[in-house]
Amino acid sequence: MKASVIANKDYTIAKIDDRVYGAFLEHLGRAVYEGIYEPDHPSADTNGMRGDVIDLVKKLNVPVVRYPGGNFVSAYNWEDGIGPREERPVRLDLAWHTSESNAVGVHEFADWCASVGTEMMLAVNLGSRGVDDARNFLEYVNHPGGSYWSDLRIKNGRKEPWNVKMWCLGNEMDGPWQVGHKDADEYGKLAANTARAMRMFDQSLELIVCGSSNSDMPSYPDWERIVLEHTYDHVDHISLHMYFANRDDNTPNYLGLAEKLDTYIETVAATIKQVKAKKKSKKDVYISFDEWNVWYHSNKKDREILDGNGGWPHAPGLLEDIYNFEDVLMVGLILNTFIRRSDVVKIACIAQLVNVIAPIMTEKGGPAWAQTIYYPYYFASAFGRGTALQLVANSPGYETPHGKNTAFVDVSGVHNEDDGTLSFFLVNRHTSESIETKVSLQGFAEASIIDHQVMTHPDLKAVNTAGNQEEVAPKKGTGAKVNGDRLSVVLPPYSYQMVRVKI
Ligand code: AHR
Repeated sequence: MKASVIANKDYTIAKIDDRVYGAFLEHLGRAVYEGIYEPDHPSADTNGMRGDVIDLVKKLNVPVVRYPGGNFVSAYNWEDGIGPREERPVRLDLAWHTSESNAVGVHEFADWCASVGTEMMLAVNLGSRGVDDARNFLEYVNHPGGSYWSDLRIKNGRKEPWNVKMWCLGNEMDGPWQVGHKDADEYGKLAANTARAMRMFDQSLELIVCGSSNSDMPSYPDWERIVLEHTYDHVDHISLHMYFANRDDNTPNYLGLAEKLDTYIETVAATIKQVKAKKKSKKDVYISFDEWNVWYHSNKKDREILDGNGGWPHAPGLLEDIYNFEDVLMVGLILNTFIRRSDVVKIACIAQLVNVIAPIMTEKGGPAWAQTIYYPYYFASAFGRGTALQLVANSPGYETPHGKNTAFVDVSGVHNEDDGTLSFFLVNRHTSESIETKVSLQGFAEASIIDHQVMTHPDLKAVNTAGNQEEVAPKKGTGAKVNGDRLSVVLPPYSYQMVRVKI
């Protein structure tokens, strides 16, 4: 089987916003406690943060981390997490039916972000709270001093304001599972008022309003239209979420779900344009895809606690999906979609970062390691920076419930003008056939291969564990060649590859 791709220097989509390689960290399960924070761990720094996790996160070069939720934020009092630790209250977290010690709050999170070299993206509680809470939190975080909340921050040990630019106006407010769930009109009005108040403090904030929790929600896509009609002039991004699952153990259909993601983005981009036209607005609103990942492996195991039958444990092992090789392909497809939609998707966050549906796993007192999906995320974040190319790809395809002709070969291409490289990220969705793929490089000077990484595995269900951390890991590829202006590479069945050339 053969596929062909044209990569022309002048056919571009957009400059990729680095923030599409962001991540999400929620007070949920062992994400914070035993994930990033474990004061008794042998690798812990003076703040009690795990050094082995910091190293794994640093390697990913994560540009932004969204915090503190998620469903958690909709009943969270941020003031519970400030001041002397021993005076912080233990609260019941209704979202995940657990107890929250508040040992980690905004100060500890901010210090951790500085350690890993990432920017904070904070969410305000528009579930159980509203405008007042949002303005106070903003003043605490961003005002230099001389006011009640900023002086309290200084008293609590942080002199300089953090100057957080990105703020989420609540989380998944369309979901009936959310504390303080609202209909689109109610939420749209509250979000607009909150945004207005926050902008009175600082015009330059980047505000993110909630879109749908996923494209199967009964209120989708009217939700986006109604919410934007209320908020268009006051916000910069609309947030979308989507999780992927192979519930029927049908790999071709599972990998076809990337089409559903693409349609979701396309539809919301059209809604944004519709509202823009209706408002006769000159400004643009973009998509912040601030929760995405594979999530289903742990569903059954979590039921007892989520149904409220497990009491109120502190930091139980919730949502601990153990990812397999097949999930590498799905994550590669999702990232390719974001690169191809870089004209409208400006922020995206893998959900989540540590232990909870995450690329990084930890054992209490033990090791931290990379799950299978760590690698496609790493390759995209490390090498997918630059300008997304409008590739013309020609590949045989197959039919799934999500698309009539889903290409076996899925590809994205990124031109990094700063270091003079081209990076291609390729997934072969074919069950059994290798696909010989030729990429015609047009308008680029002479090219030579500088890196070729391949992920394949005879067992789609193979996983990495604490005891076998590299069962699924990339290997250096050998077969990619450049001949004149032609790059050729053979993609084995069910494989992920990254090919980089110097131009
Ligand atoms: O990431 C897990 C949960 O998924 C988040 O808390 C919520 O926003 C979404 O439903």
